[in-house]
Amino acid sequence: SNQYLTLNNGYKMPLIGLGTWQASGEEVENAIDAALEAGYRHIDTAARYGNESAIGKVLRRWLDAGKVKREELFIVTKLPPTANAPSDVLPVITKSLADLQLDYVDLFLIHTPFSVSTNPDGSIKKDAQGLMVPDLSTNHGATWVEMEKLVANGKVKSIGISNFDEEQIGRLLKTAKIRPATNQIEHHVYLQQRDLINYCKEQGIAVTAYSPLGSRGIAKFNASFGMVRELPDLIEIPEVKEIAAAHGKSPAQVLLRWIIDTGNIAIPKSTNAARLRENLNIFDFKLTEAEVAKLLALDQNLRVCDFTLFHGCEVHPEFRFKNIYNK
Ligand code: A2P
Repeated sequence: SNQYLTLNNGYKMPLIGLGTWQASGEEVENAIDAALEAGYRHIDTAARYGNESAIGKVLRRWLDAGKVKREELFIVTKLPPTANAPSDVLPVITKSLADLQLDYVDLFLIHTPFSVSTNPDGSIKKDAQGLMVPDLSTNHGATWVEMEKLVANGKVKSIGISNFDEEQIGRLLKTAKIRPATNQIEHHVYLQQRDLINYCKEQGIAVTAYSPLGSRGIAKFNASFGMVRELPDLIEIPEVKEIAAAHGKSPAQVLLRWIIDTGNIAIPKSTNAARLRENLNIFDFKLTEAEVAKLLALDQNLRVCDFTLFHGCEVHPEFRFKNIYNK
């Protein structure tokens, strides 16, 4: 049930992975179990999500029982924006590997092109207005050198970036010895980011789409996380429903197939066994050129996660996480 994209270093990455943002504890354990049962081999997590040890527990069970081999898995985790200085890289991956109960991860990403300051207890520092405080000391070129060392010492197979725009990628490429394997960005029919994706492809960087279903229901998780908003429901778009009916597939399957058919990787999140099976069951149909064109015409530049304040910046002096939706 898996199909793969070959990365610029020759490793093969499954086109569909399980997203785990906003899933933790027993809920994520059950989801990982159901996902592995359904045939998922690519799992996307992050230190920032706080669910690596729950995921690790299930992976360990499957590996120890011989139900899956390590080399069949493609595990992705990320260096958090609260700890992305060069000196953080080794301790962060060491902790992630311990939590995941793995010797290596397949892909390790710099989670964001900006950094935030933390309090001594590790929580995110906020100013008097409740805005997150930037950490202006981080230089991602220097961090990348430490990421490259992880490839050399075998702790990670591939390294990449997330939420980087063209300018930020260009800056990194000036000094990088290893090119990023992937850039993980928000990508769905309402936020297509075609210029950025074309640039990534020109540079040999594969694109992984997060929020491929528009993060349906995100508001219930994130009422107080000002950068996030809920979009109009993508599975209710008439064109999407029409195409779904024509193929006898669901709207979610059409949204995912569109990402694959245009050459990208998708990490839909679900903690529901039936829906996560549905999301992997997209390799028995293909959209026509006319259908792809119809979906390309839906672009609205509508974001779930608004990182636009930081575009063009490594760490911009004016940088603040502004609660732009609740002014
Ligand atoms: P659930 O976890 O209850 O299945 P995204 O991957 O874009 O962030 O979207 C995730 C959201 O979409 C979650 O709320 C998830 O809910 C829901 N979802 C995942 N798969 C499907 C599907 N096949 N059909 C409808 N909703 C889905």
